[in-house]
Amino acid sequence: MTKIAVFASGSGSNFQAMIDAVEAGNLTAEIALLVCDKPGAYAEKRAEEAAIPIFSFSPKTYSGKAAFEQAILTELQRHGVEWVVLAGYMRLIGPTLLKAYEGRIMNIHPSLLPAFPGLDAIGQAFDARVKVSGVTIHFVDEGMDTGPIIAQEPVRIEENDTREDVQHNIQAVEHRLYPQTIQQVINNGGGA
Ligand code: GAR
Repeated sequence: MTKIAVFASGSGSNFQAMIDAVEAGNLTAEIALLVCDKPGAYAEKRAEEAAIPIFSFSPKTYSGKAAFEQAILTELQRHGVEWVVLAGYMRLIGPTLLKAYEGRIMNIHPSLLPAFPGLDAIGQAFDARVKVSGVTIHFVDEGMDTGPIIAQEPVRIEENDTREDVQHNIQAVEHRLYPQTIQQVINNGGGA
């Protein structure tokens, strides 16, 4: 079974969608590790409930990114992780992990990239009053929300949608599209 690690910083609803997809037999992978840079984040509770090992760390207790990424890498290797899946991990991946997992790190972003990269993409789209935003899944490179696009799906924003409606509609697409896309990438062995 292909072993993946999920990186999260927050609520982990996408992480939960992957746990559910594995349990339903729709994602034939083992989630071997949760990596979390915010000790106490709700994603950790989800991992505990699913009996998934957790590597939880505080970046500020390390001398810098190279040091904490080295610690992450040690854990990934110890658990035999083959693919890294970012799910709301609000941090740029540095050279240590990029080199070790070249072409094997995916990210999900709540917009149709290259539109609205960075923080609060849903709020950015809402404030810009665009009629269509969406979801992008891409391979990770050294940039912020850059890297080759694997999958995209549009989400319409209706005239009287609230910000919460937009968030709900985008996350519903994320929760379906991410497990499905991870499965495809794993099946293809790298090139989506
Ligand atoms: C998701 O909407 C994801 O697309 C976004 O963070 C949210 C995490 O939600 N990621 C980014 O903005 C990356 N730039 P979750 O913790 O409930 O899965």
